[in-house]
Order: sequence, then C-alpha cells, then structure tokens
Amino acid sequence: MGIVVTGLDIGTTKIACLVGELDDQHRMRIIGVGIVPSKGIKKGVIVNVDEATEAIQRAVEKAERTSGQQIREAYVGVAGSHISAVNSRGTVAINRPSHHIEPDDVRRALEAARTIAIPHSQEVIHVVPRGYWLDGSNGVRNPVGLHGYRLEVEAHVVTAAATALQTYEKCCEGAGVAVRAFVLEPLASGEAVLHEDEKELGVVLVDIGGGTTDISVFLESSVWHTVSLPVGGHHLTHDLAVGLQCPLGVAEEIKKRFGYAAVRGVVDDSFIDISHFGDEPFRDVSRRDVAEILEHRVLDIFDLILREMKRSGYDGLLPAGLVFCGGSSQLAGLKEAGRDFFSLPVRVAAPQGLSGLVDVLGNPAYATSVGLLEWGLHQDQIQGRMKRAPGGESASSQWVSRIREWLATLLPG
Ligand SMILES: Nc1ncnc2c1ncn2[C@@H]1O[C@H](COP(=O)(O)OP(=O)(O)OP(=O)(O)O)[C@@H](O)[C@H]1O
Ligand SMILES: [Mg+2]
Repeated sequence: MGIVVTGLDIGTTKIACLVGELDDQHRMRIIGVGIVPSKGIKKGVIVNVDEATEAIQRAVEKAERTSGQQIREAYVGVAGSHISAVNSRGTVAINRPSHHIEPDDVRRALEAARTIAIPHSQEVIHVVPRGYWLDGSNGVRNPVGLHGYRLEVEAHVVTAAATALQTYEKCCEGAGVAVRAFVLEPLASGEAVLHEDEKELGVVLVDIGGGTTDISVFLESSVWHTVSLPVGGHHLTHDLAVGLQCPLGVAEEIKKRFGYAAVRGVVDDSFIDISHFGDEPFRDVSRRDVAEILEHRVLDIFDLILREMKRSGYDGLLPAGLVFCGGSSQLAGLKEAGRDFFSLPVRVAAPQGLSGLVDVLGNPAYATSVGLLEWGLHQDQIQGRMKRAPGGESASSQWVSRIREWLATLLPG
C-alpha cells in the first residue's frame, strides 16, 4: 500500500473526513469518505466542543468504515476571522568558504522570516516562501545549489488564534484523531481547484461556504494575500427567510432550487408555490423577488472581495480573474453576476480528476476537503523523500526532525 493520508474539513455546514491513497501512477485515489452535517460550529469556528467532537467522531467513523483503515491522525483545515497573514522578510549570511547554498540556509532564512512580532495569542501555521533574493538579485525560485553571500526570503506568514487551534485539537483528539498539521482552508482549496497557469498569472480564489467566505490571491505561483470573512450561504438563506417571511428550511430549498444571483438574469419570472416546502399554507413568491433579495447579499460579498483584492495591492494584476468554489458558488447566475461586477474572467470550480469513491466529491463544496488530502499527500511525499534521500538515514535524527518541523509549515511544491 502506498502513502495514505486523512483530511478533516470541519465546515460550518458539513464535516468531511476523506481518506486518500497515492496509486502506482502517482494519482490520488479516494478510499474513504465520511460526511455528516456540522454541529457546534459557527462562522467557521468551533463554539460547542461536545457537539463538534461528536460530529467529527461520526465523520471519522464513516470514513473508517468505508476505507477499512483505522484513522489515527489527519490534516485539519482551519478558517475563520481569527486567522491573520502578513508578508515578512528573512535574511541570512552564507559564511561557509564555498558560499554554496544548502537546504539548511533556506531553513534559517524562513526561520528569520517567521520571527516577526506575533502577539502571544497567535500561533504560526504556515510560512509560505514566495521568492528569494541572492545578493540583492530577485527572481530566484529555488536557491539551493547556487552560490552567494546573502540569502533573503520573502514569505507569507499565516497565524491563527492559539485558543482556536487548541479547541480544534481538543475536538479531534476527543474523536480519537491527532492533528497531523493545520492547513489554512484557502490554501487547501487552491490545491484542489486552481490550475498552475492561473496561479502563475494572478488569480483570486473565493471559497463561499455556509458561514465563511475565504479569499486568497495567488500570483507568480505563490499566495500573496489571504483572509477569511464571517459571511456565507447561511446569510443568503437568512435574508430570504426574513424577506419572504418563511422558515429557514423553506428559504434554503428556495435558494437552491429557484435562487438566482442577479435580478437582471431572471428570464423566467414565473411564480413559485412555496406550500410545496414544509407545512406552509399556499403562497406564491416571484422568482424576481427571490433574486432581488439574494442580489443584495451577493453584491455585499462581491464588495468585500473587491476590497480585499485592493488591499492585497494586486487588483490590477490578476488576469486569470476569479475562481469560485464552496457550496454557495453553486448559486445559479453567480458566475455571470461576478463577470459583470468584476469585469474579469470568472469560473466556478469543483475538484477534478478524482478516482475511487468520488460520487459526491466532484462538487465545489468539496474543494477544501479534497484539497486537504492533496496537501497532505504532497507533504508526506516530501517527507518520504527526505527519509529516503542519500545520507538521509544516517543524518542526525535531530537534523531530520528539525527539517521535518519546518517542512510541516511550508506550502507543498
Ligand atoms: N445549489 C446551491 N445554490 C446555492 N447555495 C447552495 C447550493 N448548494 C449548497 N449551497 C450552500 O452552500 C453552503 C454550504 O457550503 P460548504 O459545504 O462549502 O460550507 P462549509 O464548508 O460547511 O462552511 P464554511 O467553509 O463556511 O465553514 C450552504 O449555505 C448551502 O446553502
Ligand atoms: Mg468550507
């Protein structure tokens, strides 16, 4: 059996536990799936430990049953407004006589970038290298093997509230699963749905889930800006429930079956009889009214996305446009409304090229879940290579574990 990894996507709407295996052709095969409705999670953050633990446990048990594997550890996605990200630089001198750059120099430079002033309440979860400078010249993708006196790295340092991470850990451990590593959800989603050329050219990835909208800007194959906003599909449903004066469950059904993101796109303005949903007495609502309510919130979300694009400083430099994923990206007309609003290319993306138990997973709602597996496999492959590398076995175990520790915080690839 090849490398097997588990990913745990603890969302506001659903918890997805997936088990993946790398096959002989180095393709990922999904061998275990456990999906359950979320409990105890609001706006991407755990608010009730007992409920969340129980829901995680149920997802894990399902994934164990389908995969026939015992799950001991998992890559766990994190999001929410407690996440912060800053860009930071680290510089080190190369003092050895040959001035030959070794992996340890890169590690020292990243470590220097990591030691930025972080409040005690925050913990670093990723140090993503974006580019290197060697003796003041930039454009260096991988400095190992080159020669120089001074190595500088520019890195995207992602931190999360220490208390939030402890809560995730407590819930996972309560469900019998150790946290192998925390992964920022938009970075995981990016692994699953973005093409290499989009990341190279400049693209905004927007994961609109139930309780959060995660925005990340990729350029020159690296992430430059990440933010998680506490707004998502639940707000669309809530607005409909208030506007149409109907229960949330009915509003949710109407949104999914008849919703449209912009009034302008509603061609069939027939009426919907909402008595079909639940115990409502006979009542007609117009599709146009539904679209009008949804459009307000969609435009709010678009405004927030635009603000973040501007805040990243790269809003004019994103020719690949926007890629939407997350369950709410399935709202009819969202793509067209996005193209009108941003005047950029927009596509809605789902994980692709999967094999194994994939019935439900080729859907935008599972971008993060599948991305966590891809991230994990990538990470485990890197670490596997480290172990098998010539001299790797004989190198001091302290060195190997130090390298592994910092690798665990890096973007794969
Ligand atoms: N066809 C559809 N049209 C519009 N919205 C939809 C559709 N299908 C699902 N949704 C919405 O997708 C949302 C759930 O998305 P997703 O599964 O990505 O959330 P999550 O990962 O659990 O939450 P989060 O990432 O915000 O914590 C729900 O609000 C649901 O109403
Ligand atoms: Mg999600």
